[in-house]
Amino acid sequence: MKVFRAIDEVRGYLNRKKMEGRIISFVPTMGYLHEGHLSLVRFAKANSDVCAVSIFVNPAQFAPNEDFNRYPRDEARDLNLLEKENCDLVFIPSADEMYDNDHQTYVHVRKYSQVLEGAVRPTHFEGVATVVLKLFNIIQPHFAVFGQKDAQQAFIIKKMVKELNLPVEIKIRPIIREADGLAMSSRNVYLSSEERKSALVLNQALHTAKALVETGERNVAHLIGKAKEIIYQSKIAQLDYVEVVDIEIFERIETITKPNSAYMLVAARFGKTRLIDNVVL
Ligand code: PAF
Repeated sequence: MKVFRAIDEVRGYLNRKKMEGRIISFVPTMGYLHEGHLSLVRFAKANSDVCAVSIFVNPAQFAPNEDFNRYPRDEARDLNLLEKENCDLVFIPSADEMYDNDHQTYVHVRKYSQVLEGAVRPTHFEGVATVVLKLFNIIQPHFAVFGQKDAQQAFIIKKMVKELNLPVEIKIRPIIREADGLAMSSRNVYLSSEERKSALVLNQALHTAKALVETGERNVAHLIGKAKEIIYQSKIAQLDYVEVVDIEIFERIETITKPNSAYMLVAARFGKTRLIDNVVL
């Protein structure tokens, strides 16, 4: 497995692979890898000749009051996990390699960056879209793989790719959960055992909403009401939102019109840790 830290070097290497006719896949990550990331890597590896993964905790997507400094990092462990997956290449740039001191260019996918996650984290998606565009320009993959866990992020990246005519295909892969249903996230390590137990209400709420839709419920207000009832059973959950949006246009809807046409999205804090989760309805 090759490890690159310099933009010129990784770009040169991948250009040569492309000239040889190799299919390049790409999985961008912020490291501290878990099964969710590894499932993306396995998919990328199975469908390409060269599987590239990036590890970069992107300062531009954290607001000053957020967890950039304490975000979990363990490069040696990540490299070991990627090696076991037969990943071909890892790109681990420093912040200085990615951004110079006077960085001024940002990508803003306007409407979709201000709602839901964006309403709580107003600069987050600008940071995500900017770094993902930079990484796409550096790696120049044929396709890139993202997790459905960050459904709004995936939607915004697809929109950016379409509207900026980027020659990369975006593939979205399902959420991977712990045995008890908690969606895998690098931030789960912050949870105390009490918080972790409480956090199960998120999956329970989503699961209940999905079961209701499967038995014929179509009214979104009712589904949201039921989901909230379950989340409020936890005494420590501080709910940011439960919303239902159309999968194609990411706008709130009042009625479920057909199966698999909407996301129910939830975000809540457990102690200092903010978790998100979603399900397709
Ligand atoms: O989903 C993430 O881990 C990050 O937002 C991403 C896509 C790697 C950009 O920093």
